[in-house]
Amino acid sequence: MYAIETIGITKKFGNNIIFENLNFKAKEREITSILGPSGRGKTTLLRCLAGLENINNGTIKICGEILNNKNKDNLIKNIGFVFQNLNLFPNLTVMQNLKIVLDSTEKAQNLINKFKLNGKENEFPKNLSGGQKQRVAIARALMLEPKILIFDEPTSALDQELISEFLKIIRGLINKNRTIIIVTHDTNFAKNCSDNIFKI
Ligand SMILES: Nc1ncnc2c1ncn2[C@@H]1O[C@H](COP(=O)(O)OP(=O)(O)OP(=O)(O)O)[C@@H](O)[C@H]1O
Ligand SMILES: [Mg+2]
Repeated sequence: MYAIETIGITKKFGNNIIFENLNFKAKEREITSILGPSGRGKTTLLRCLAGLENINNGTIKICGEILNNKNKDNLIKNIGFVFQNLNLFPNLTVMQNLKIVLDSTEKAQNLINKFKLNGKENEFPKNLSGGQKQRVAIARALMLEPKILIFDEPTSALDQELISEFLKIIRGLINKNRTIIIVTHDTNFAKNCSDNIFKI
């Protein structure tokens, strides 16, 4: 069973065709990496999968269901998105960044503990290291317990040690029955971490 499947999708911006007739598949409980050169449409594909961009043609299936305007809000609840620039709210603390998604202090605190951010609850993002900020973004994406987690270039700002830490985190998520999709430039990282590689 595929967590996400696209069947012949096409995306254009104006007359500019970003991809055409694209068939992408991510199996449940696997890590699928998407590799491709800069500007090739990787982020655009992720945004289409997460319902943040409309496609011009073709079909997207999420957890076996065809995405349409009626079920979109419901279906995309299955997807957590960790953006390349993380998109943390700079004026909110770590705790507030998590609770803005879902107002549960208990759940937020559990995730903060899990990602070793204890003691940082009341810090603002600017006072965190790159790896800590990334862990806040991952924790926030997990607040709604999505089945599918999408990462856009998660390792680009991390050193080797933090990349290993990130690998441990995503392997832990796979053990919790989650499906992971990772866009990366890093061929070695993709080979190391993923069950499948999709070249765009
Ligand atoms: N909102 C938009 N309107 C018009 N063109 C866009 C828009 N977003 C992206 N594009 C164009 O679509 C193409 C693909 O962009 P995209 O960001 O998906 O590439 P990418 O593969 O993620 O690149 P990178 O590896 O540099 O992040 C680029 O040519 C970009 O200029
Ligand atoms: Mg991109």
